[in-house]
Amino acid sequence: MDNKKFPTKAWYAAGWSHEINNELPLKRKILGSQIIFFRDLENKVVALDAMCPHRGADLGIGKVVNGNIQCPFHGWEFNSAGKCAAIPSQCPSKNIPNNAKVNAYHVAESQGIIWIWGEKSAPSDPNPPHYYFLEEDYGRGMRRVRDIPIFANAPFLSVVENAIDNTHPPFIHPGTLAGEPPRVADQVIRYDDDMRGYWGQLDPTDPVHDDVKGTEGMLGLSRRLLGVTRLDREKCYFRFDLGGVVYFYDRFVSGHEQVALFMVTPADDTQAWFFGEHVRSFAKNALVDYIIKKWVRQLNGEDVEHVELMLSSQQTYGIDKPVSVIADRPALAFRRVFFRNISDEDEQETHSANDTKTVAKQDAEHEVIADASGT
Ligand code: FES
Ligand SMILES: [Fe+2]
Repeated sequence: MDNKKFPTKAWYAAGWSHEINNELPLKRKILGSQIIFFRDLENKVVALDAMCPHRGADLGIGKVVNGNIQCPFHGWEFNSAGKCAAIPSQCPSKNIPNNAKVNAYHVAESQGIIWIWGEKSAPSDPNPPHYYFLEEDYGRGMRRVRDIPIFANAPFLSVVENAIDNTHPPFIHPGTLAGEPPRVADQVIRYDDDMRGYWGQLDPTDPVHDDVKGTEGMLGLSRRLLGVTRLDREKCYFRFDLGGVVYFYDRFVSGHEQVALFMVTPADDTQAWFFGEHVRSFAKNALVDYIIKKWVRQLNGEDVEHVELMLSSQQTYGIDKPVSVIADRPALAFRRVFFRNISDEDEQETHSANDTKTVAKQDAEHEVIADASGT
């Protein structure tokens, strides 16, 4: 089995822009490390390891002073590069030790999202994911509702696989997503050339769509109230992008649009963060924001609760050789991208002939799993 638990040459969502300020740091366990986030004097987001190198205090309970993080124990200050900039207990004429520093991470802020690169070395991809529907001047203007970050006691693979799986709603979300028939339409998957993402669509001509009621439960009630019941299925699609972004784009016959965006980030090898957002072009008022916020919270809560209860979530890679059917294509496509990128990274790091053979064998195994489902 691969050594890596998730691809590291990727941008992962670390939080929302509004969570980070220039007074108190935000501490979050991400990619196996306790990391603090704050803003420097130029309002740029800084991400540093949370443990102070002096005596190991938690910088996450420190405060931001002059754009630096100040340790709560003896007041040492660390700048945006992680270097110690001040030691109050010694005369200013004395040198600051060279090793008085903490690791600084590569971060980027874009479209209201804070992204962190999965490795300490410089990003091989300079830009984090960018989405047209999050542009301020896109279409009729989109209204965004963000959920609070949810911590899942389940590994990255299980949480992403659940987010992209569209066969569980009748069972996991009988109230929040009522009216969907258990059988899903046939699905088309198109991989990106670099195998770092894929596009998918439910066959718009499949007669199973005629069975969709779409008028039951909270979702149905909301749709009827908002007048967005009929989907323009030719234009609806879903996407996955490395690190862990999944989104479902819906276009209605009226021309209105909505996107359900899920960003999953490994907290460590066995746990993950889940950032959810709903974006819409209609009913742009605070009351509908409130209703959608409640709905998204309940939906995400149901997902995380059930993923945590899966026995396979006690293993980093989930079940070893999952049995799959055609309706599992989106999840299998994710597995293919996930393991392909881990193998590529392992190969780049090892360079040995033996390891290359092993990686090629593992890659082939994962493709066989996907092929067996008819993809
Ligand atoms: S432990 Fe941080 S300054 Fe002493
Ligand atoms: Fe779900």
